[in-house]
Amino acid sequence: MAEIAPSVLGADFARLGEEIASAGEAGVNMLHLDIMDGHFVPNISFGPAVVARIDQLTDAYLDVHLMLSEPEKYFDDFVKAGADAITFHLQVHPDPVPYARQIRDMGVHAGISINPDIPVDNVLPYLEHFDLFLAMSVFPGFGGQKFIPEVLDKVRTARKHIDSNGLATKIMIDGGVDLTNAAEVVAAGADILVMGTAFFSAHD
Ligand code: DX5
Ligand code: ZN
Repeated sequence: MAEIAPSVLGADFARLGEEIASAGEAGVNMLHLDIMDGHFVPNISFGPAVVARIDQLTDAYLDVHLMLSEPEKYFDDFVKAGADAITFHLQVHPDPVPYARQIRDMGVHAGISINPDIPVDNVLPYLEHFDLFLAMSVFPGFGGQKFIPEVLDKVRTARKHIDSNGLATKIMIDGGVDLTNAAEVVAAGADILVMGTAFFSAHD
């Protein structure tokens, strides 16, 4: 069964504690934390100090999505802050395996992400080295954007590759996921649905 990972970027930061508690009450086991540097993406979010505070507030698995030009500089800081998984983008490290090793050697899961304009074939050869594959269904940088449906074919292709090679890599989808497309995303083979706006703006 697919799982939902709420993206804290969609939460009301003035009520962060309550928002995280409400995710816990909704039965969520994983939170997605979007880290942006104003360079790899045209927006700035939050850093390790906020992640460490979130880690104190919840037992949820913390999935840290690094939208950074030099992610490796911060692996250690985010692991110390309580990250359970660290994901970076293939664009910044086209030879990503040494970085996957570095992350796993720190005792956390490693993830690799591709933007909507990157062919899925570029990432397939590396999936065996990663615990998570984060397929972007929007161009990263902002919450609340519209889902790009072309990602579904990438999810199907990755699903086939993972299953036929007996890999344990989980497929995550990130951006614009809501109740109108969730079923389709799951049918395409995604294991985890990141949901920011749709989760935190819902009334129940
Ligand atoms: C986009 C982020 C996403 C985003 C998801 O840059 O990586 O995780 O916060 O938010 P929604 O669900 O609002 O698209
Ligand atoms: Zn994200």
